[in-house]
Amino acid sequence: MTDVDLILRGAGELLTCAGPATGVAGPAVGQLEVIRDGALAVSGGKIVAVGASSDIARTFTARETLDVDGALVTPGFVDPHSHLLYGGTRHHEHEAKATGRSRGSGLQSGINYTVRRTREASDEALVSQAMTDLDVMLAHGTTTLEAKSGYGLDRDTELRLLRLTKGLRHTVEIVTTYLGAHVLPSEYEGRTAAYLDLVIDMLPDAARFAEYCDVCCDPVSFTYDECLRVGKAAKAQGMAIRVHADQTGDADGAQLAADLGAHSADHLDYTSDRGFAAMARAGTVGIIFPAVTLHMCEMTPKAQNGSLVPADKPFMPQMARRAVESGCTIALSTDYNPGSCPTPSMQMVMQLAARLFRLSYAEIWNMCTINAAASLRRAGDRGSLVSGKRADIIIWKVPEHGLVINRFGVNLVDKVFAAGKLVVADGQVIAPAAPHPNKLFRVAV
Ligand code: NIG
Ligand code: FE
Repeated sequence: MTDVDLILRGAGELLTCAGPATGVAGPAVGQLEVIRDGALAVSGGKIVAVGASSDIARTFTARETLDVDGALVTPGFVDPHSHLLYGGTRHHEHEAKATGRSRGSGLQSGINYTVRRTREASDEALVSQAMTDLDVMLAHGTTTLEAKSGYGLDRDTELRLLRLTKGLRHTVEIVTTYLGAHVLPSEYEGRTAAYLDLVIDMLPDAARFAEYCDVCCDPVSFTYDECLRVGKAAKAQGMAIRVHADQTGDADGAQLAADLGAHSADHLDYTSDRGFAAMARAGTVGIIFPAVTLHMCEMTPKAQNGSLVPADKPFMPQMARRAVESGCTIALSTDYNPGSCPTPSMQMVMQLAARLFRLSYAEIWNMCTINAAASLRRAGDRGSLVSGKRADIIIWKVPEHGLVINRFGVNLVDKVFAAGKLVVADGQVIAPAAPHPNKLFRVAV
């Protein structure tokens, strides 16, 4: 008998989401390993063994044993794309769009509004709101989060966002990304090259805080050549690359990601078959965002000359299926930000992925766990419940994995363990990470 810190036993279903460090692609993304009456042994914050409850009981003794009484047990979520630190809110813009009062200002002007509010925000306000958001994410099952700058777009504010992000002390583990090349800030109108000189000039400082550099290769942001220049300079600083690719039109963003050896290309709404093929060859993980599709109302026909015509976006289930069938590893994420995606919940993302992208439940579970970890090159130590990985574990209020996707709109998480430590009980963070002065969710700053 081996002695361990903790045994979790009696899982109605234990979902391992096991897979290689590159994630699961091809037919494998539609397969799940489900252990009925499953159990886990945990020691030193790591998983020591996974199996049937009876087998684990025969092999291990534990200081603490928790019988989960038929509950579903899964890996914690990895959310691989967020814009965590920002000032202000954009609900007015959304209501105007949703009610047709405005056809919607372009993404660029929305982002620049958030840039102005972020520049005005104090360090304390930004950190306090980020900590509140991280508590909400953790309570909904997210244990690892990628977080970008990108609402500063001047030297002081971009580096301030990166320093504050890197300094966040929260149970949710954060991977930091520099997104100086998000959109052209208003004050640089007509001077794109000068702005990108500044983005490149900031790289040595940004690289002190950020593991990744993200570039936005999109008709509303920067071209293939402009992004290539920034991406190459970032690689010379030792940073790895992520790409916002082809969100509002095909800008060869997927090809750019492949050419730069990017770890991920994100959005891909208008990516061509050629772009997906290049990503597959390069091993670039694709990340897609059903909650952005929902929030931006892309399924709604638009009015043109007094009649309704289909929106310009390709039919999103076909795009999602094409991404899966390209052979790329595909992950899901929130894209949490005040404009295109104000939900911080990966449960919501899963529920929308089934309804709007018509992905199978197995595909969705793999895309929020092992594949999301693979997009951050972290699938070697998280993203599945297998021996040797971090004990990031969700115990659910439902017995079967399908119910997490089939039900929607409520938090179904009961408990979360992060690195083997109980951090959420009955859907509430046990010790909210930081005291914060206001109790309101996302108060405008
Ligand atoms: O959805 N091209 C960048 N797009 C951002 C928009 C964020 C926002 O609306 O503020 C994105 O990732
Ligand atoms: Fe984004």
